[in-house]
Amino acid sequence: MFVQTFIGPMIHSSRDGALIVHENACVVIKNGKIDKVDLDPDLKNPDIKNVKFLKKGQFLIPGFIDGHIHAPQLPNLGLGYDKKLFEWLEHYTYPHEMKYTDLDFAEKVFDSVVRRTLKMGTTTACYFASLFIEASLVLAQKVVEHGQRALVGKVNMNLCRFVEYYETFEESLRNTESFIENIRNIGSPLIEPVITPRSALSINAELGQILGELAKRKNVHIQTHIGESLSENKAVRDVHSGCSSFTEVYETTGLLTNKTVLAHGIHLSDEELATICKHGSSIIHCPSSNTCLRSGLCDVRKLKAAKVKIGLGTDISGGNSPSILEVMRAALDVSVHISFSKSSYEPLTYKDVFHLATLGGAEALAMDDRIGNFEPGKEFDALVIDLSAPGSVLDDVQDYTLLEKLQRFIYSGDDRNIVEVYVAGRRVV
Ligand code: GUN
Ligand code: ZN
Repeated sequence: MFVQTFIGPMIHSSRDGALIVHENACVVIKNGKIDKVDLDPDLKNPDIKNVKFLKKGQFLIPGFIDGHIHAPQLPNLGLGYDKKLFEWLEHYTYPHEMKYTDLDFAEKVFDSVVRRTLKMGTTTACYFASLFIEASLVLAQKVVEHGQRALVGKVNMNLCRFVEYYETFEESLRNTESFIENIRNIGSPLIEPVITPRSALSINAELGQILGELAKRKNVHIQTHIGESLSENKAVRDVHSGCSSFTEVYETTGLLTNKTVLAHGIHLSDEELATICKHGSSIIHCPSSNTCLRSGLCDVRKLKAAKVKIGLGTDISGGNSPSILEVMRAALDVSVHISFSKSSYEPLTYKDVFHLATLGGAEALAMDDRIGNFEPGKEFDALVIDLSAPGSVLDDVQDYTLLEKLQRFIYSGDDRNIVEVYVAGRRVV
């Protein structure tokens, strides 16, 4: 049994969204899992081994969860925000993604994606990989090599939205089944497959249905896009003529489950939200992307009122940064902007976005039995934050409270303040 012990300040989130703050906690980790959190540790106890005392000014928080990220799009970061969704996809994104038949290129990019997101504190990522199974498996390899926790999905697209960038129904099904087997054969508890129909515009109903059945049969997550732009909503009604909305397409094909992760969810009716809630599916809020591609202002308070599970996503390269910290700030900005036009609207607080980036994200990925906070029994996915780390724009020269430190980190920190990253007790940065 390998035992590690961390002693120092820590902050994490509880189920009701309230923050739990301990000035001097002792976290005992056995084989990567939190055994107990002791607030009055007896350091002579032989159970307490391999003790690491956090330095003055440092504190522990749970690792960040990126609920929606397109790994192949990293090289396009910052490109094309003069266009809206459809034009951006056709001018920049699809032509770029077609390059992933080149596995050397895939390896270079995916190595960089996993390293960079880990450095930014993303201990768990829900990845859109590639249309191509070989490149998707390269991403899986990189995730395992660098020790990140991840859901990885081979993308399904059997409708042609752009020249030759699609696959047939048979290829899509065969490669998805094979991808799931390949991922499970890796035998790592950190990586899982996720069935990934790109969106209701990328698949026909037959493919949706068979993927829904596959997800049920293999007990696999599903991820896709929903309600991202108004022109997309209209196009969905044209392509799936029997359905009146995105949600209806996903519900009737059996793609809404309690392990379905829906990115964006900006333009959804109350009825659609009620359907999503009924199935226990979740929405990943991607505020940076929603602003960069001018898709709209997603109202997180409305999603919360509909009792839908919510996490945060970078959606690179629709979003302009692979950092969930930046996404937290974008979520704060967007909610302040909503409040300017709705007088009684309460903007989100730094505590709300911290919850969305940690336990909220874990709930949205249906992984809250394992990760998201420091409850005993969960895996130790954690970040050591240091406000006065070398090169940091912040300092720690005054006595701030722990909550003030967290607030300063969320509003003004960056990856230089994330000095150590742990996944399942293993130091990965
Ligand atoms: N809808 C379909 N594909 C994509 C994508 O790659 N990015 C975003 N933001 N929306 C999409
Ligand atoms: Zn996306």
